[in-house]
Amino acid sequence: MDNKKIVLSGIRPTGQLHLGNYLGALSNFVKMQNEGKYDSYYFIADLHALTTNPDPKELHTNVRHILAEYLAAGLDPEKSTIFVQSDIPEVSEMYLLLNMHVGIGELMRTAAFKDKARKALGITAPNQGDDDEDVAKEIIGASTNKRVNAGLLTYPTLMAVDILIQRADFVPVGKDQEQHLELTRRFARRFNSFYKTEYFKEPQNFNFGSAPVKVPGLDGSGKMGKSEGNCIYLVDDEKTIRKKVMRAVTDGGPTEPNQPMAEPVQNLFTILKLVGTPDKVEFFTEAYNNCSIRYGDLKKEIAEDIVAMTTPIRERIIDIENDDAYLHRVLEMGAERARARAGKTLADVREIMGITKF
Ligand code: TRP
Repeated sequence: MDNKKIVLSGIRPTGQLHLGNYLGALSNFVKMQNEGKYDSYYFIADLHALTTNPDPKELHTNVRHILAEYLAAGLDPEKSTIFVQSDIPEVSEMYLLLNMHVGIGELMRTAAFKDKARKALGITAPNQGDDDEDVAKEIIGASTNKRVNAGLLTYPTLMAVDILIQRADFVPVGKDQEQHLELTRRFARRFNSFYKTEYFKEPQNFNFGSAPVKVPGLDGSGKMGKSEGNCIYLVDDEKTIRKKVMRAVTDGGPTEPNQPMAEPVQNLFTILKLVGTPDKVEFFTEAYNNCSIRYGDLKKEIAEDIVAMTTPIRERIIDIENDDAYLHRVLEMGAERARARAGKTLADVREIMGITKF
């Protein structure tokens, strides 16, 4: 074994990947893999997906989608360890062990948990500055018959285990996962200090280049997400891509030279910067600034650039997705490597905690 630093990341299989997932995460996984500087582990977090109680058939299909999308985007099972979380039973066992050092309170204060718990309980978030204990009161208050499952609460423990069990150095994740990564570091420190060991190192976030890429949506505000009319899926065909982009929200057009851009228009330019060439960006910026821009032309350019970027990926997804033998082989290889590393960590952790054989 060489001494390359370990990079690890995972995606929850809740649907097909869109351009935001690709540009924000997956394309960076591929770059890091191909740089050859790291030993990379990329997985599909199917146990995490269970926290929102998906339909079993849909869950299985979604795992297949993400796997095919990983491979189609360029993740290579010869270069990276590609696996499904549930294929590593060591993760589940260490999740039980680590939970012994995780506080219910700190889990309940996690932003992602509060969001999901509020959804499950059907309550709306309090205004800023107001009492922020609404979730805790609702859950413990017993006046509700709605349930927040314990898996949702312990989501951060499971994520910490994914990372710590592979002893990852770097974890490329977006802003919404930073708090979970912070908890991972806290759990690692706590474990080390309780057992007077230096066993776990603290994993760091990793941004390829400078700031993480945030891909805006097509509906005028915010980032690309799964909602209707807001996102382009990697598997969308050319016609669908064109239709979606042509429908993107804009405004009435600039009426004065160098007028500031409204958010929806800014968003289209952000997308163009991500998918198009610098000369096109310059051309349309100039056209906006001298009020000669036609949004239809801008959208056509964006649509064609997206089509050029995603078509080869889509074609590969379709091929790979139907190749059960290949998918099986990839996952068998990945599970073997991921289990080897996880098994070593789990054995150490059991021993450190006093679970030893007679
Ligand atoms: N929670 C992550 C998300 O929703 C997915 C995830 C699970 C993950 N385990 C992880 C990401 C470990 C990085 C490392 O996106």
